[in-house]
Amino acid sequence: MASPDGGKAYPIVDHTFDVVVVGAGGAGLRATVGCSQAGLRTACISKVFPTRSHTVAAQGGVAASLANMGPDNWKWHMYDTVKGSDWLGDQDAIEYLCRNAPAAVYELEHWGVPFSRTAEGKIYQRPFGGMTTDYGKGPPAQRTCAAADRTGHAMLHTLYGQALKNETEFFIEYFAIDLIMDAQGQCRGVVCLKLDDGTIHRFRSQLVILATGGYGRAYFSATSAHTCTGDGGGMILRAGLPIQDLEFVQFHPTGIYGAGCLITEGARGEGGYLTNAKGERFMERYAPSVKDLAPRDMVSRAMTMEIREGRGVGKGADHIYLHLDHLDPAILHERLPGISESARIFAGVDVTREPIPVLPTVHYNMGGIQTNYHGEVLTKKGDNPDVVVPGLMALGEAACVSVHGANRLGSNSLIDLVVFGRAAGLRAAEIVKAGAKQPELPADSAELSLSRLDRYRYAKGATPTAELRLSMQKVMQNNCAVYRTGEVLQEGVKLIQDVWNGRDDLKVTDRSLVWNSDLIETLEFDNLIVQAVVTMVGAENRKESRGAHAREDFAARDDANWMKHTLATIDDTAKAVSIDYRPVHSYTMTEEVSYIEPKARVY
Ligand code: FUM
Repeated sequence: MASPDGGKAYPIVDHTFDVVVVGAGGAGLRATVGCSQAGLRTACISKVFPTRSHTVAAQGGVAASLANMGPDNWKWHMYDTVKGSDWLGDQDAIEYLCRNAPAAVYELEHWGVPFSRTAEGKIYQRPFGGMTTDYGKGPPAQRTCAAADRTGHAMLHTLYGQALKNETEFFIEYFAIDLIMDAQGQCRGVVCLKLDDGTIHRFRSQLVILATGGYGRAYFSATSAHTCTGDGGGMILRAGLPIQDLEFVQFHPTGIYGAGCLITEGARGEGGYLTNAKGERFMERYAPSVKDLAPRDMVSRAMTMEIREGRGVGKGADHIYLHLDHLDPAILHERLPGISESARIFAGVDVTREPIPVLPTVHYNMGGIQTNYHGEVLTKKGDNPDVVVPGLMALGEAACVSVHGANRLGSNSLIDLVVFGRAAGLRAAEIVKAGAKQPELPADSAELSLSRLDRYRYAKGATPTAELRLSMQKVMQNNCAVYRTGEVLQEGVKLIQDVWNGRDDLKVTDRSLVWNSDLIETLEFDNLIVQAVVTMVGAENRKESRGAHAREDFAARDDANWMKHTLATIDDTAKAVSIDYRPVHSYTMTEEVSYIEPKARVY
């Protein structure tokens, strides 16, 4: 039952800014700093205190070819990223990422990120999966710049300091409900609920930048924070815009068994290795040259295979061991202090003596809101899939540039945040005019947001949100996992549709607006479920294996038919998904590098 006036009676507090950034993780803050430095009056809206954003949990490091620990260059990084993406990444965007990565890391250093150091005082860099030298022909590259195993924490705090220094205006603990789109398809702002007093705030701006993170919490077991509910992706789908490649969900090989907390890939970078019940270092069989430093999709598949074939460890033979016990305790203390503590707290393990029980755990969404490498959101019109949506950008895990394609390499996420966060600031400086007069918003511009808010606030069905969310998480975990088959996915499509339909029967018990976690979790569930459905439908639809999408019934990559991005839109009323496609960019940004031709992806 909606309120009698369908949400019209909410008093609205109006704000006008040049730029509004939604999300205060690494990408949102880096964009915020750039826009503020460009003289644009910038608001940064976040549902949590900025330094609690999920970037804080990033551990192992940020990739950039600094060559501090051995030979390296951005072209090798580009090659590795294209190969890691299983040739679904757009090579112009990948060139932009890898070429600009070193400058982005030096900028962080100059802003104060306390990177670990080599004996000569240079930024310390560790090996990470899939990062190699000499176009895959040389030994692993030491390319991942680290602040012990708390790199994201160090970056986030530094970026927040820079944003404050540059006089960004923060709106903290404001929940973004929906975008304001005008009749011409231009984004004109965003409507928010202030969590601590229940007031409604309408932000009008020349540009909205969505940096709202991934939707890992669509799954039961994820390294993502509980706040990772894909709020930007939900807003995009409700605005009728497409979302790209959601079928590619990354499982991190080393989530702590049971708890799901992250044990950084940096642990294997420092010499850690995986074993099965026979004590074998099984990765030698799956990736003979790089072994435990294979990309994540391969390691997760190998672990799943070992468990399936009866070689898992533990009472249920259902997980794998990660050994660090052979490493010098002084190194563990210096370079991996955070995960040593996590292993003690969440697995009861002393890493200097015992292996850590681990299992592949959902970690990252390669897909997201379709953008170009300036951060501008794109949509398809007629045959043109790359039409810029005016007034709207997306960044970070919320976005799909696409630099990660079908599989992201570890440590390419933190660099994505700062390179494209910076790019968005540069583009904003070109297209936004400081203080320009903005047209009045239509009188009903908040109505869509408020009637949706109202619908859930007064939801009087029989199913508590927590119950429906759990059903969604179990379906995703069981039916859209590391390995997929047509049969399991078809069942998944039906089951996840049932959850979507179940949304009509939601029950919200708290009708208040102040700190109403029941209501906010319901709005978050609404964001999650549409992306869960698109993920499942996209996975069922894609009849090949590529990167993190491993179909047992279509075991090979099929470039002839499937080297293309999925573009999905929804009809949220009819609860239906439509699938379309756009070509992978088969060109680079400059002539300094040539297109890297597809080949078999072996390590
Ligand atoms: O394993 C890790 O430290 C995670 C890094 C990443 O996802 O890039």
